[in-house]
Amino acid sequence: MTNNDISLRTDADGLVHLPGLPSFDPTDIAENAVISRLAGNWRRRATVKRDEPDLDALFDADRADYPERIIPFRDHPTWQALPDELRSRLLSWAWIAYNRHTVLAEQRVANPAFALVMEGEFPGLGEHDMEIALAQAMVDEQYHSLMHISASALTRRKRKHAFPDRVLPDSHTARTHQLLRAQWTERWQRSLTTLAFATVSEISINAYLDLLADDPDIQVVNSTTARLHNRDEYCHASISDEMAKLVYDVLDADKRRFFLDMLVAGLDAFVATDYASWTAILAAEQVPGADRMIADVQADKSSSRLVRDYTGLHSLMSEMDVLGEVDFDWGLAEVKK
Ligand SMILES: [Fe+2]
Ligand SMILES: [Fe+2]
Repeated sequence: MTNNDISLRTDADGLVHLPGLPSFDPTDIAENAVISRLAGNWRRRATVKRDEPDLDALFDADRADYPERIIPFRDHPTWQALPDELRSRLLSWAWIAYNRHTVLAEQRVANPAFALVMEGEFPGLGEHDMEIALAQAMVDEQYHSLMHISASALTRRKRKHAFPDRVLPDSHTARTHQLLRAQWTERWQRSLTTLAFATVSEISINAYLDLLADDPDIQVVNSTTARLHNRDEYCHASISDEMAKLVYDVLDADKRRFFLDMLVAGLDAFVATDYASWTAILAAEQVPGADRMIADVQADKSSSRLVRDYTGLHSLMSEMDVLGEVDFDWGLAEVKK
């Protein structure tokens, strides 16, 4: 059998074995109450089921496309000396990159992980109401990709500027996920890596979307896009939370350790400021002194994280009783425990 074969093997007790993963009882149809409730109310709550807002009508050229307060070099003299028009265009770029990163999180991490679970990659997971909840979540994620792609298209049209996606490197999270998967030799390692990154993404994306969703000053189209997306993600966070606990429960000690390591790697990647994207954007706009400005800010570790709310993953790890086994600087989240 190769590492890519996942064939079912049943022992004398009727338990099913998959290579690299623990056995499970396929006749146990116990449903998870959280998953069942979410699967049942999807048609009433999902953004994809609602009428689309008239995005064009919401556009206001005088508003910034992205909050300057979360630009990592907002206080740097080079940034502050830039002409208003260029600074405004760079904020539009930040919004285009934010959309691109969100789309990559959906396409490269969230939906592949949901598909793995639906296909039965993790024993005991992905059947009954969970299958329905995951199929719904995959529709949500595809719709979120469309929402963010449409939002970037609107920005390009209204700002009369190309802002081509091809200028941007893949997001830091997408690159890290890909690099890790490429280095593993075992299928279960790759599958748990994708599940761990999706768990982090699904549980932490609320904090990422919140960076824009409640901002009263930016483009209303943009905060509305983030807010509508966020509504669905509160439910995905619950689904991912349950999935992570169910998987962790049935892993052996080595695979538990591996899963925790991948959760931390995912969180480190997800919350990081994406300097590669900024380097590309500033080069495309030929911003004078950009390299120096980025080097100055990168040297200041207080700017290294864009997302600073880790409470979602902190509470998951607290419920899993593994906080003592992971090495992550939780900052304020630790205080809220
Ligand atoms: Fe999403
Ligand atoms: Fe999601």
